Amino acid sequence: MKKLFILCLLLLCAGSLFADSLVLYFSRADENYGVGYIEKGNAAIVAEMIASKTGSDLFQIVPEKPYPAEYKKCTDIALTEKNQKARPAYVGDVDVSKYDTIYICYPIWWGDFPMTMYTFFEAHDLNGKTLIPFVTHEGSGVSGTDKTLKRLYRNADVKEVLSIRGTTIQKDRKGTEASVDAWLKKVSK
Ligand SMILES: Cc1cc2nc3c(=O)[nH]c(=O)nc-3n(C[C@H](O)[C@H](O)[C@H](O)COP(=O)(O)O)c2cc1C
Repeated sequence: MKKLFILCLLLLCAGSLFADSLVLYFSRADENYGVGYIEKGNAAIVAEMIASKTGSDLFQIVPEKPYPAEYKKCTDIALTEKNQKARPAYVGDVDVSKYDTIYICYPIWWGDFPMTMYTFFEAHDLNGKTLIPFVTHEGSGVSGTDKTLKRLYRNADVKEVLSIRGTTIQKDRKGTEASVDAWLKKVSK
């Protein structure tokens, strides 16, 4: 009995050591639209939810140069970056070759991905993988970013995107979790 217990424990550990899915995310805390100052970003909250429900590894795309804590200052910089098609550097990296499935969680910035995500995309070939996008926004919805993913990775299987407003994630955690659960059921078929 004890041996069986130890064997199960080992198998469980091995399972989590060799997760074949990754949750890749970009998220910003501090002052955000409609929610004041938040300690954890909206995409980060959902990214962690997905990782714990699916047993995936997590990698956060953290810009080398942090954005200002004030919302307005941050949006001004982000707009300049978008207009200049900037590719801001990020900290660290992840070996994507280990993963068949990648959940990609991000906020909409000026109707697009934050530019730092393009820095990541251009450095990694995600063709041949299953890509599952999650978007948080404050009214713009997905803004065609799922189509952009398909354009960037023509040989990836891009699944149905889920989008939730940041204000909903902050104020209705239970409702958010229910939406994530229902969506995970659909996309992981
Ligand atoms: C720089 C910046 C630009 C934004 N642009 C948009 C936008 O174009 N459309 C929109 O609906 N929300 C926009 N937002 C709101 C965010 O998408 C929303 O607050 C999201 O929940 C933030 O997620 P995060 O906390 O994970 O970064 C913007 C926020 C920031 C900081």
